[in-house]
Parts: sequence; structure tokens; C-alpha cells
Amino acid sequence: MKIDLEDVIDQVLIDEESLNKRIKQLAGQINEYYLDKNELVLVGILKGSIMFMAELAKNIKLDCTLEFMDVSSYENGTQSSGNVKIIKDLDTDITGKEVLLVEDIIDTGRTLDALKDSLIKRGANSVKIITLLDKPERREIEIKPDWSGFKIPNEFVVGYGLDYMQMYRNLPFIGVLKREVYE
Ligand code: IMP
Ligand code: MG
Repeated sequence: MKIDLEDVIDQVLIDEESLNKRIKQLAGQINEYYLDKNELVLVGILKGSIMFMAELAKNIKLDCTLEFMDVSSYENGTQSSGNVKIIKDLDTDITGKEVLLVEDIIDTGRTLDALKDSLIKRGANSVKIITLLDKPERREIEIKPDWSGFKIPNEFVVGYGLDYMQMYRNLPFIGVLKREVYE
């Protein structure tokens, strides 16, 4: 069935051209920062990061490998933070490597905080974070991305990899989801 954007999207927050332009700038910063370092591993967090990962990687001019992880936060009522459950792990040993976590959006910060800790414990030489979007208003854990594409207001967004119930990841822009869709 053809998607009816008018029923789904309130407004386009960031169009494709602006996304690509900003991602090129970010890649430039990554190229500079990691220039004299060895063994860069880009770790995309599935599935939200796929579009960002692809566009970023195309603009990185360094030797690097691409890895993916799929995680979900452990939540059992009382204990809200701490662990992440790894659903798909890395395929390689990251000991001594420079890890760059590639995320779609930082919201509460819980996922990345736990993930970063666990990768440091595994012996990565460094673990840094790049996120396409940042919703600072929603933060529960103090965690700052090392590089961030866009700060956005506290609205639920979809597209460019981000989903609502696994849908709308394929949209080529970041759009605000209509409230009617989830209310
Ligand atoms: P947190 O920072 O641990 O709260 O988790 C961030 C994750 O929540 C992201 O990787 C997204 O999968 C999801 N998320 C947060 N805000 C949004 C949104 O506005 N649209 C779609 N997914 C979101
Ligand atoms: Mg995600």
C-alpha cells in the first residue's frame, strides 16, 4: 500500500539535503580526529542508525571497518538503568581499537551509557559517540555525544532510519509523527 504522508507526518523537521550536508560536515570532523589513530571501527546500532551509518561511512576517508550491534535496554520496573541486553553482538574483537558508536538519536541516554561502559570493559582503546539527532530535554543520564548532527525539540520523529512500531524508517527525511498516529 502506498504511504499517505499527510496522514503520518505533521511537518518535515530536517529534509534530505540538509541531512546529507550536515553528515558530510560530521564526516569531515571524524576524518580529522582519527587521522593519526589506528584501527577505527564504526559500530552502528541497529536498526535506527542504518541510513546515517551509510551516509557517514561514504564520506569517511580513513581505513575503517563497519560493525553492527542490536541492543535493547533491560527494564524491570524498579531497576531502570544499568544493563543493555545484547541481541546481536559485534563480529570482531575490539581490543585496542578505536570504537565510534553510531546512533540515530540520544533520548534518555540510557542505551548509550550502558553500551559505552560495556565496550570500554572489553578493552577498546577508545569509545566515542556520534549521533545524528539529540533530544537533550529528555536526558535522564548525563551523557554527551562527542559529535551530534542536530539538536531537536521533544517531539517523536520518524524517518531516515527512525521508526514508529518498525514503520517509516524508509522515509528520506526526519519528520514529526502526527499525534493521531500514536494517541
Ligand atoms: P535512550 O537514549 O536510551 O532513551 O534510547 C534512544 C533510543 O530510543 C533510540 O535509539 C531510538 O531507537 C529510540 N527513540 C528515542 N526517541 C525517538 C524518536 O523520536 N523517534 C524514534 N525513536 C526514538
Ligand atoms: Mg535505536
